[in-house]
Amino acid sequence: MTQARSSWQSNMGFLLAAIGSAIGLGNVWRFSYMVYKFGGGAFLVPYVVALIVAGLPIIILEYGLGHFEKASSPLSFARIDRRFEWLGWWMPIVAMFGIMLFYSVVIGWCFNYLLYSFSLSWGADPQGFFFKQFLELSGSAANLGGLRIPIVLSTLLVWVLCWMICFRDVRHGIERASMVFMPILFLLTIIIVLWSVSLDGASDAIFNHYLHADWTKINLFATDPTIRKAAGKVWAAAFGQIFFTLSLGFGIMITYASYLPDKNNIARNAFITAVVNCLYSFGAGFAVFGIVGFMAKSQGLPFQDAIKGGPQLAFVVYPKAISLLPAFNTLFGVLFFFMLLVAGLTSGVSLIEAFTCSIIDKFGYSRKKVVTMVCLAGFLGSLVFTSRGGLYLLDITDHFITNYGLVAGGLLECIIVGWVLKATVLRNHINRQGAHLPALWAFSIRYITPAVLFYLLYLSFTGDMGKNYGGYPTTQLVIFGAGWMLICFIAAIAFAFSPWKPERLKRRHRPEEDDLLV
Ligand code: ALA
Repeated sequence: MTQARSSWQSNMGFLLAAIGSAIGLGNVWRFSYMVYKFGGGAFLVPYVVALIVAGLPIIILEYGLGHFEKASSPLSFARIDRRFEWLGWWMPIVAMFGIMLFYSVVIGWCFNYLLYSFSLSWGADPQGFFFKQFLELSGSAANLGGLRIPIVLSTLLVWVLCWMICFRDVRHGIERASMVFMPILFLLTIIIVLWSVSLDGASDAIFNHYLHADWTKINLFATDPTIRKAAGKVWAAAFGQIFFTLSLGFGIMITYASYLPDKNNIARNAFITAVVNCLYSFGAGFAVFGIVGFMAKSQGLPFQDAIKGGPQLAFVVYPKAISLLPAFNTLFGVLFFFMLLVAGLTSGVSLIEAFTCSIIDKFGYSRKKVVTMVCLAGFLGSLVFTSRGGLYLLDITDHFITNYGLVAGGLLECIIVGWVLKATVLRNHINRQGAHLPALWAFSIRYITPAVLFYLLYLSFTGDMGKNYGGYPTTQLVIFGAGWMLICFIAAIAFAFSPWKPERLKRRHRPEEDDLLV
């Protein structure tokens, strides 16, 4: 039995859900730390270039494709050509099993820390608390060391919340949740940003570290090969971040756009989503640099000794700063971790939805059954990241999936849509909806974007070959990084091989394709 396809109730509902998917944990700590590590304000140059060269063209492509085919990513690619269906599976599988498994655990940490904020449980040593008491971190990725029950419980809660939201059709589930959560998220963010920038020491950090540019860090043409290689990594990281932050290469935006009504200005929606998301990151940067600046000043530390990378920014630096606040410490902690929780949840449901919709499209099972099975499998899969060695796995998986998995997905997407479906077909479709997408977009999808992404993959690869990522032993990088991607790839091929009911593959008549004949 074919079920009626879900649909958004309003364009605003769609936009809030898509922006909710884009704005996530990545916007707060991932973006800010990258800015600091990769040259302060100078990082904004590759970031904006990545947005223009890859982010905007690909978000338009994904919205356009989902809307054109009215299908999830596997069905969209299968309709272009059955031989490319595997790419349609690769993306949501990476979203669900490459990202969401650890993403849900990090959202779970936010919940734990929200509770800890009430009593400032991290005490005088938030670093020791995070690693020794909270994570009970083992010595290496090779030693998982058993599960951490408080983290298992908070991760379970995250999966239950996601299950409750995705269980109902998109209009009553994701759309309603986004209508409630997104205004709360914006409000919380404004409070946190204003509070942070008003602290003593904040403006110094903002002007001297956030907005100050160290151009050598991004100089791809430096004569010194070490500087050139380091700059290559910065550019690769900026592109990886744009994919991650805009939820591209996951099949999410294809799925979300497939629920839009026939008439919709996709190009405008894509532009709004990308710009709001990137401005949010830029704004959140003020809060992060402001609070780190305050902490550095209160402790008499240089800024570079106060800031820390990755998860430590939210779970070590922030708690420390919260404890140092002159007043309302608990309130700040609760608001901050609640903000992260909300940002994470609205992205988490989208990571689940892309895979759920793919299964429903292919096998025709009911949403309720699929969501229940997917969330159950997801929870069980995420247990590995709740172990005492989970942080190492998380770091390795994140690096490989973001820098290779998403970028490679985006590259192949451009080639298949640009050359097999033909970018002009999609451009005509988008322009029929009232947009004025220039021919440059189609040119970019066929030539510029794939060429740049290819070069970026090369830069990431040569960077990783020169030096093991994060100093991890090669076997661990191969097993948890490359191995994880290989498993996703095999799963994608397996799903693509299972047969379709012929009527599902049938396309509607699309006048855009006739345009090519004239
Ligand atoms: N786009 C989501 C984030 O940045 C996945 O966290």
